[in-house]
Amino acid sequence: MFFAIAAIAPMLTWAQDAAPAKAVDPDFWKNAFGSLTILGAAIVIAAAFLAITRLFLAVVKMQEIQMLREKGIEEVVAAYRAPQESWWSRFSKSMTKRVPIEQEADIDLGHNYDGIRELDNKLPPWWLGMFYLSIVFAVIYLFAFHLSDIGPSSQQEYETQMEVAKAEVSAYLATQADKVDETNVTALTDEQDLSLGKSIFTANCVSCHGQLGEGGIGPNMTDDYWIHGGGIQNMFKTIKNGVPEKGMISWSDQLRSGDMQRVASYILTLKGTNPPNPKAPQGTLYDPAAAEVVQDSTQAGVAPDSLKSN
Ligand code: HEC
Repeated sequence: MFFAIAAIAPMLTWAQDAAPAKAVDPDFWKNAFGSLTILGAAIVIAAAFLAITRLFLAVVKMQEIQMLREKGIEEVVAAYRAPQESWWSRFSKSMTKRVPIEQEADIDLGHNYDGIRELDNKLPPWWLGMFYLSIVFAVIYLFAFHLSDIGPSSQQEYETQMEVAKAEVSAYLATQADKVDETNVTALTDEQDLSLGKSIFTANCVSCHGQLGEGGIGPNMTDDYWIHGGGIQNMFKTIKNGVPEKGMISWSDQLRSGDMQRVASYILTLKGTNPPNPKAPQGTLYDPAAAEVVQDSTQAGVAPDSLKSN
């Protein structure tokens, strides 16, 4: 059928093309002849197929008649009447090709290892079928994904995924346009921000800086002495970059800038809370007024945070 359509279709289109031009395509007869040849071949093949099928059915019929003759009609009828094995049991037998236990001796290879005997069982067809299928699959897969352009190779897949990731990163960065950094960070005073800052502090910082900021492995957060400078901007910078060589990690991978701002703002509120067991002051006394002068001279154009936080 397919052959027939394939053979006729081009003829039809040629006929349509030729009609409006009112000129016979010089190749028309040649092409038409080619198509007719294919059509003829298709008919011959279909006829041959039909003939073979009929022949096969005839042979089966003859075989049946032969069987009836040999067994005698009663036996055949009895066989039909006999209780039939369930299709599932027949199916599972054919899928495993297992040898009944009574015939085990037939497949015994005579190798006996401390009572463990070796049987020459057939490979179960279900297993063999899957094995062959996996080979066929492997060939198709190899062809589709490695030799042809039908499916993407690992390399191409990797590249497309990288592109998707890149797009996602730039989309994310676009939403972070209002990102705060140490040059423009301000101390937050909003109740909600401070309580968020507190929970960030409790979750990440208390192990080193103490439940109440009294200090431990890390310095006391409640006094006026700072190693890396007090005030929101210095603090933000320390939290962001960390002091890795002293055991204070950089938090920029784990906390978003807004959260670093919140936790730094929360630390500012700890000043002067006098918790029990404070760690001795470390660093230098942080004087917002003095810092103002320093920051003015080093960071031109940036308002000192002491003005904002106080
Ligand atoms: C593993 C321990 C550890 C953890 C956890 C830790 N820190 Fe620190 N932190 C330190 C140490 C140690 C220092 C002192 C660094 C130095 O001596 O220069 C420090 C210093 C600081 C400073 C500067 C103090 C100063 O005197 O200048 C700030 C601010 C700070 N930490 C904030 C935080 C925040 C906020 C968190 C939680 C998000 C945090 N730290 C978590 C160990 C830690």
